[in-house]
Amino acid sequence: MKRIFSGVQPSGRLHIGNYLGAIKSWIKLQDKYKCIYGIVDYHAMTVKYSPDDMQKRVLDCATSYLAIGLDPKKSSLMIQSAVKEHTELAWILNTITPISWLTRVPTYKEKSSQHPDDLNIGLLDYPVLMAADIILYKADAVPVGEDQLSHLELTREIVRRFNYRFGRVFPEPKSILSSGARIMGLDGKSKMSKSLNNCIYLDDTPDDIRKKLARAVTDPQRQRRNDAGNPDVCNIFSLHKLFSISEEIERVNKECRTAEIGCVECKKILAKNMSNDLTPIREKKLELNKDIDYVKDVLLAGIKESKIIAMETMEEIKQKIGVKYTFL
Ligand code: TRP
Repeated sequence: MKRIFSGVQPSGRLHIGNYLGAIKSWIKLQDKYKCIYGIVDYHAMTVKYSPDDMQKRVLDCATSYLAIGLDPKKSSLMIQSAVKEHTELAWILNTITPISWLTRVPTYKEKSSQHPDDLNIGLLDYPVLMAADIILYKADAVPVGEDQLSHLELTREIVRRFNYRFGRVFPEPKSILSSGARIMGLDGKSKMSKSLNNCIYLDDTPDDIRKKLARAVTDPQRQRRNDAGNPDVCNIFSLHKLFSISEEIERVNKECRTAEIGCVECKKILAKNMSNDLTPIREKKLELNKDIDYVKDVLLAGIKESKIIAMETMEEIKQKIGVKYTFL
């Protein structure tokens, strides 16, 4: 079976952007691939974070994955820092990665302008650790959101360079782009992001969802109920396409343009559909939270399985790069 690795940062509660952008596709891939899904805690340390929260956030992340449908019988769920080969390999990859490849990465440019007083090397080196995450398991494919494509391109460049220098060890991982693409926040302006406070969280209740959608930005040109709207520029309509059935999408699309339906009603329909999708996840999470030992066991098993592959790859790499010492 071909192998997949993907990861998410334990950056607190998951929102529907995380869900549609990546995790939902992970679930479907479990039958076709051997999947390893990592909670990448070391990546989460490249910006200021609270050490006290980490444990809670990692566990919450694991619980969410299981609630969404990650099946520990098919896939491994692991924590990056618990398999130390990730950082070990990252160092080796550092020595073959030109700095210029890293400074041109869009996320680095963005983050370095957002956090000019906290420009740590980890922020620059982030894609190298990500490359290590992936190739440590010789992953053939990586399901990601659009924002991660440049990182993956860099991974392939690093792989090519490694294979060229030391002999072929790694496959070039291809990306599997999540269909949800770029989920915009409720402000309709920026990508859904916890720090921008424009999210619907996976464990929001139907009531939370209704209230949040009621305040969400729609077509900015449509000022009055009787104005015709333009679904093409309305973020609520984009969300309909992700949560509603095709008949309803068609209806909203048509009736918005003729002002037969107003934003309030359109949002009500969306709130209902979104709640229908998210309620089973929220309820499953509540159930898992009562049995947190089960979640811990899943993680321990996943770490163990990952560790076996990771150690094997490291042996092979050490041989290739000349640090497997026979005199030891
Ligand atoms: N950079 C990814 C993100 O922010 C997380 C990540 C880390 C990842 N390592 C990975 C994703 C390896 C896929 C594969 O979403």
